[in-house]
Amino acid sequence: MASVDFERIDKIYPGGTQAVFDFSLTIADGEALALVGPSGCGKSTLLRLLAGLETATRGELRIEGMVVNELPPQQRNVAMVFQDYALYPHLTVRRNLEFPLKMRNLTRAEIERQVNWAVELLSLGGLLDRLPKQLSGGQRQRVAMGRALVRQPAVFLMDEPLSNLDARLRVQIRAELGELLERLHATTIYVTHDQAEAMTLGNRVAVVNQGRLQQVAPPRELYEHPANVFVASFIGNPPMNLLPARLIADNADRLQLRLGEQHTPLLQPVATLEAWQDQRDTLLIAGIRPEHLALTDGETGLQVIVRDVEYLGHETLLHGRIAGLDSAELLLTARLPGLRTLHRGEMVRLKPVATEWHGFDASGLALTRH
Ligand SMILES: Nc1ncnc2c1ncn2[C@@H]1O[C@H](COP(=O)(O)OP(=O)(O)OP(=O)(O)O)[C@@H](O)[C@H]1O
Ligand SMILES: [Mg+2]
Repeated sequence: MASVDFERIDKIYPGGTQAVFDFSLTIADGEALALVGPSGCGKSTLLRLLAGLETATRGELRIEGMVVNELPPQQRNVAMVFQDYALYPHLTVRRNLEFPLKMRNLTRAEIERQVNWAVELLSLGGLLDRLPKQLSGGQRQRVAMGRALVRQPAVFLMDEPLSNLDARLRVQIRAELGELLERLHATTIYVTHDQAEAMTLGNRVAVVNQGRLQQVAPPRELYEHPANVFVASFIGNPPMNLLPARLIADNADRLQLRLGEQHTPLLQPVATLEAWQDQRDTLLIAGIRPEHLALTDGETGLQVIVRDVEYLGHETLLHGRIAGLDSAELLLTARLPGLRTLHRGEMVRLKPVATEWHGFDASGLALTRH
């Protein structure tokens, strides 16, 4: 297995579309990196560049420290699993698994050894004599994975491999795959636009938007310290609430956030306080996650007019408008435990956890970063 480097990669397609901008990222030997971002942000392009199916317009690509920009795909020692994992329909599972090895002129014994290894790893034992059409979607997915694995590539590239599966199977295979990657200790880049999948499969998650790397960090850090408003709103479901706010001090010189006509206390650790203070008297963006808003009967808390309520069983999502805040489209979402009976048009109070505010400057960068 091997490390991978993208160094200052640009990709401009022949028609003039620039899909990747100045992209730099190192993936460590044995690391599983999840690459996540909205449709069209350049995820598949990045994988195809690494596989040798596209050439970079600028920058350097390295595998195991060796520059591979000019190397043909067969010589790159990477295996790619696509979204539509096409198996050969007229070949049995065993023949499908053998196929990539036969292309490499290995001995019969060597082929058998590697196929058996993949069969064992992916529990394909009972399926070897079946044709793809005699398999379930999840089984087909495992065979496709096996076919990529038997070659024992240096780098494993997966482009939304689970997107054709139904939700339940997806969760099951996701768990199996996570365990498999850990066991193999294989350098893997796993592309998805599903942020939950990225958070469960990746040692680190790289968030991409419009061809640019936004942030790369372990899942928890990404969730707790998003570097900008894009990451803040992309990671987490329902997304973080982002509100126009001003920082003010009350009579006792305690910090408050003013949202329209209302205000709410702000408590920040010393490390980030200064960055907030710099934004005094300017409009900033204040972010709070839906789980950090609690319904309260007291006098404190933001007054919110209920707009929509989603009863999900284990929790209730409340979407409401902050009273006195101009923007009519701006809804605040709160995750409330259990079932709450709430009525549209009703005024409630939501109390933000004062230590859980995220701050972003007008350009969208997290205040802690300054
Ligand atoms: N062969 C091509 N020629 C020209 N433009 C392309 C080509 N392939 C992709 N693009 C463009 O490059 C951009 C990135 O595409 P890419 O396929 O990498 O996105 P993606 O993140 O994989 O999206 P999705 O989640 O929908 O698969 C898009 O604007 C797309 O239209
Ligand atoms: Mg894609």
